[in-house]
Amino acid sequence: MQSDDEIARAVAVLRAGGLVAIPTETVYGLAADATNEAAVARIFAAKGRPPTHPLIVHLGAADWLEHWAAHVPPIAHRLAARFWPGPLTLILPRPARVPPIVTGGQPTVALRVPDHPLTLRLLRSFGSALAAPSANRFGAVSPTTAADVRETLGEAVDYVLDGGACTVGLESTILDLSRDPPRLLRPGGVPREALEEILGMPLERESAGPVRAPGQHPLHYAPRARLLLLPTTQVVDEAVRLHAEGRHVGLLRPRGEAGPQPRSGLKVIDVPGTAEAYARGFYGFLREFDRAGCEVIVAALPEEKGLGLAIADRLRRAAAPRT
Ligand code: TXA
Ligand code: MG
Repeated sequence: MQSDDEIARAVAVLRAGGLVAIPTETVYGLAADATNEAAVARIFAAKGRPPTHPLIVHLGAADWLEHWAAHVPPIAHRLAARFWPGPLTLILPRPARVPPIVTGGQPTVALRVPDHPLTLRLLRSFGSALAAPSANRFGAVSPTTAADVRETLGEAVDYVLDGGACTVGLESTILDLSRDPPRLLRPGGVPREALEEILGMPLERESAGPVRAPGQHPLHYAPRARLLLLPTTQVVDEAVRLHAEGRHVGLLRPRGEAGPQPRSGLKVIDVPGTAEAYARGFYGFLREFDRAGCEVIVAALPEEKGLGLAIADRLRRAAAPRT
């Protein structure tokens, strides 16, 4: 099989301390051997990521958990059994085998089993964990295809494992199990409601305070264009008004809103009919607007349930004021 050769090459690059872009169901990751400090340091350099921002450690199966966390509470096993492989990241106490550079010096480690056949084969063939942030430069839009990775990281990555387009399209949900009660640090591919069902309690969203996760930085996931969030019924009118002023406008047209005809300087993308389809397309839409030269993107927040919570979170971050 052709992919056997690709896996073998990727394993060789990782063993040599190199960087491999890996497909996952959420977004592409930029991976290195999680136990190799020099290799992990290359990830931070390639991304331009501040050293205090910790990476997610990717495992090949749920039964690797005991090996890669210093302590695993019963709830972690239950969540792993239910959601792994899948878009859920669990924060647990860091074991000594994970060097502090991976966790930004924190006493905890972020763990998940990604749901992509190629990357699962890679992990099992490599036989050890891979530290990987999203494969974009710090602050930029996350990549959801191999072409996106090559475009944003170019020579900084030694090998790109092409696994096609990501099926979920937004990053994993991050749940902090190192504190009681558990906290939702980042909404993502596993809906909050699904976690609450297993936890048997409502989940608090980590509120402002010291930044624990760069995903919590308001200035994250941003396209080049400025993003303007408005009530659903005002989105189309405002896009038309800005276009009439001579601005290059991207319109993320809400479901059920009519007009305008796309024209020069006005790019229209229709919001898909389901939250799943919206999530899958989301980062690609932002890239399309950037590629079309839009200065401003006008959009509305979706209903904040299911994947809608994660979409709204990424829209708010993209709309946050830039300094
Ligand atoms: O879906 C995903 O999670 C993707 C794919 C590649 O797995 N990865 C991803 O990585 O989104 P990144 O680096 O873009 O985001 C990792 C997030 C950051 O917000 C980081 O702060 C948080 O995980 N994180 C990592 N370790 C942590 C820790 N010990 N405590 C709190 N947050 C942590
Ligand atoms: Mg990221």
